[in-house]
Amino acid sequence: MINDYKYPHLFEPIKLGNQLFRNRIFASPTGYLNTNGDGYLNEGAAAYYGRRARGGAASVATFECVVDTEYGRGGDAHFSTGRPGVAANLGRIAAEVKGYGAVPTLELQHTGMFANRSLSMFGGEAKGVAYGPVEMMVDGRLIKPMTEEFIERTINKYIEAAVVGQSVGFGMMLIHAGHGWMLHQFLSPITNTRTDKWGGPAIENRARMLIAICDGIHRRLGEGFPIEVRISGSECYDGGFGIENGIAIAKQLEGHCQLIHVSAGNHEVDEVFTVTHPSMFQKDGCNTYLAEEIKKHVSTPVATVGALSDPDLMEELIASGKVDVVEMGREFICEPDFPTLVRTGREKEVKKCLRCLSCFSSELTNGEPYCAINPESGREIETKYEAPVVKSKKKVLVAGGGVAGMEAALTLAERGHDVIICEKTGRFGGVLRCEEKVDFKKNLDYYLNQQAEKIEKTPNIEVRLNTEVTPALAEEIKPDVLIAALGAVPAVPKIPADADAKTMTAQDAYGRVDELGDKVAILGAGLVGIELGLHLASLGKKVSVIEMTDHMNDGGNFLHMSGVRVEIKKRGLDMHFSTQAKQISAKGVTCECEGKEVFIDADSVVFAVGQKPLTEEAVALNYCAPEVYFIGDCVTPKNITEATSTAYLISKNIGRF
Ligand SMILES: Cc1cc2nc3c(=O)[nH]c(=O)nc-3n(C[C@H](O)[C@H](O)[C@H](O)COP(=O)(O)O)c2cc1C
Repeated sequence: MINDYKYPHLFEPIKLGNQLFRNRIFASPTGYLNTNGDGYLNEGAAAYYGRRARGGAASVATFECVVDTEYGRGGDAHFSTGRPGVAANLGRIAAEVKGYGAVPTLELQHTGMFANRSLSMFGGEAKGVAYGPVEMMVDGRLIKPMTEEFIERTINKYIEAAVVGQSVGFGMMLIHAGHGWMLHQFLSPITNTRTDKWGGPAIENRARMLIAICDGIHRRLGEGFPIEVRISGSECYDGGFGIENGIAIAKQLEGHCQLIHVSAGNHEVDEVFTVTHPSMFQKDGCNTYLAEEIKKHVSTPVATVGALSDPDLMEELIASGKVDVVEMGREFICEPDFPTLVRTGREKEVKKCLRCLSCFSSELTNGEPYCAINPESGREIETKYEAPVVKSKKKVLVAGGGVAGMEAALTLAERGHDVIICEKTGRFGGVLRCEEKVDFKKNLDYYLNQQAEKIEKTPNIEVRLNTEVTPALAEEIKPDVLIAALGAVPAVPKIPADADAKTMTAQDAYGRVDELGDKVAILGAGLVGIELGLHLASLGKKVSVIEMTDHMNDGGNFLHMSGVRVEIKKRGLDMHFSTQAKQISAKGVTCECEGKEVFIDADSVVFAVGQKPLTEEAVALNYCAPEVYFIGDCVTPKNITEATSTAYLISKNIGRF
C-alpha cells in the first residue's frame, strides 16, 4: 500500500452507472478529421485515441459521431453511425481504447441548424437542408423548423446510434448538448422559442428532447449504462444565456444521466471560441467556476473542462468536492502520458499545453492534430509500430540548441545514438528564450526548461554550450551524422532612420523594455510583432502596430488568432494596416497609407518583420559528415510545430543503414 500518494483524489476510481473508471482524469473529445474525405475513420484514429488510453486516461472520448447522416453532419467528412460499415470502424477504436484499460466513450452529435454547411469539414458554402428548433435565417440559409415527427425521428437516431456504439464495445455515451450544436439550440431560450412542448420559456420543454434521448438510451442499454451529457454552463457572451440556464439544464438532467460535463460557450461567436478552448491568455482552469456552481445544485456527478494541465489544481478541485471528474482536451494531445506520469510521481516531466491551438488549426487544415511540443501527436500510428532499436548506432552532432535541435538530440538519444549537441550561447532554447518573462508564454518557457533539463540528464548526450559548430569543429568531432539546427536571426528592414531614433528588434525589445519609452511602434503584424505588442501593452505602454499588408499574419495557426484578436481589443493595440513605414525619427514613424502621409507617434520603434535564416552557415556544414540534415528555422523560419515535427521525424529516420 502506498501511503504517501500525492494525488489521492485524482486517482480515486469512480463508478458511473455500472461502469468503473480507474481514475478521475477523462480525455474530453478532440477531433481527428482524417476521415479519408468520406466520413470513415482510419487506423490512425484508433492509434490516436488509443494513445491516451495507453497513457492512463480513465475515459477516452471520440470526437463527434453524428447520429443522423442526412441532416446532422456539418459536412461530408463528419463520421456518422448511420453509414454502412462504420460500426467496424468504431469498434476498432473501442477495442484499442479498452485494450489499454480505459473506457471508450462515444460522442453523439447532431449539428442542427449548422448541418450540411460544407462539402468538406474544411469550410465552404452551405449546400444543403438544415433543421433547427424554429425557422430562422443562419448564414444566408433558411433553417427549417423541426416538426414533432422530425423530433421523434431524431431522438430515435440517437438511440440507434448508442445501440450501435454499445454493440461494438463503447462503455459510455457522451451526448453533446453544448457549444451551440443541435441539443444546445433546443436548450437555449434564445434559439428555442417554440410554442409547443419542445420549447419556449419552460426549461422542462426545452430539455425534453435531451431527456427523451437519455431515457431512450437507458431503456435500450439498461439503466446502469453510463451516459455523460456535455453542456455549456454558460454561453459566456453578452446576449447569450448565462449560468442560471446552465443550472436549470443540469437540474433537468438529474436522474437521467450519470455525469454532467460542464463546458462553456457557443462556437458561433468568434470571441467565445477561446473561452470554450481557453487561449494562452487565460488562467489555468478558467472555466471550472461553471462546473463548481452547477455542482452545488445537483447530486449527479459533475465534470469540468478547460485549460487544465496542473495536477495540483486538478487534485484540489476533486479533493475539495468542487467537481467529481476533471477532463482535458489539449493536454492529452500534448502529453498523453499525463495520468501515468502524475500517478508515478513524475509530474515534473509532464509537458504543459501551450494553448497555442496549433492542434486545432492543423486538424482543420490537415485532418490531424499536430501539436507544437509533442511531435508524436497525429502520428500515433507510426510511433506505435516502430522498432525501438536502431540498426546501426551513430555518432550524431547536433548544431544548435533551439527547439528543433533539442527535440532532435532527445529523439536521437532515446533511440540509442551517441549525441553531441552544441549551442553557441550559454543556454538552450534559442530565440524563444526572449519571451521568458511573458505571462502568457509561461508554459512555453516551462517546456524549454524541461527539454534542457532532460538533455542535461541524458547520459548519451554530450552538451557543449558556448560552442559554435564550424566546419573545423565538425572536422575534429568526425560525426557520422550532422544535424544543422542553426536557427535564424531577426531581419532588419532598410528604412531610413534619424541618428537619434531609437530602434531595436523584437527579440531585443523583450529584454530592454525600460529603454523603449511609453509609446512604442512595432513594424510588422505577424505573431512576433503582435504578441510583443500585447506584452508591452500589459506593461502599460501605448502600442501601435504598423503593417504593410491589409491583414495580420497568423503563420498558419489561424485559431490562435481568435484569442489574439480578443486581446488586441482588450489591451488597446492601435493597428495600422496597408501602411508602409518610410522614415523613422526620435518622435515616431512617417508612413504612407493609401497614398497619404501618416505620422505615428512613438518614442521607439521595434522591428518584427521576420527572421533571416542562417542558411549560408548551415550549408557550409553540408560536407562535414557523411549524412547531413538541415532542420528548423535555418531552412525557412516557420513555427514551433514545424520545427519540432521535422526534428523528430528526421531523427527517428537516422540509423536505418
Ligand atoms: C483539436 C480539438 C478538437 C476538438 N474536437 C472536439 C469535438 O469533436 N467534440 C467536442 O465536444 N469538443 C471538441 N473539442 C473541445 C475539447 O473537448 C475541450 O472541451 C476544449 O479543448 C477545452 O479543453 P482543453 O483546454 O483541455 O483543451 C476539441 C478541442 C480541440 C483542441
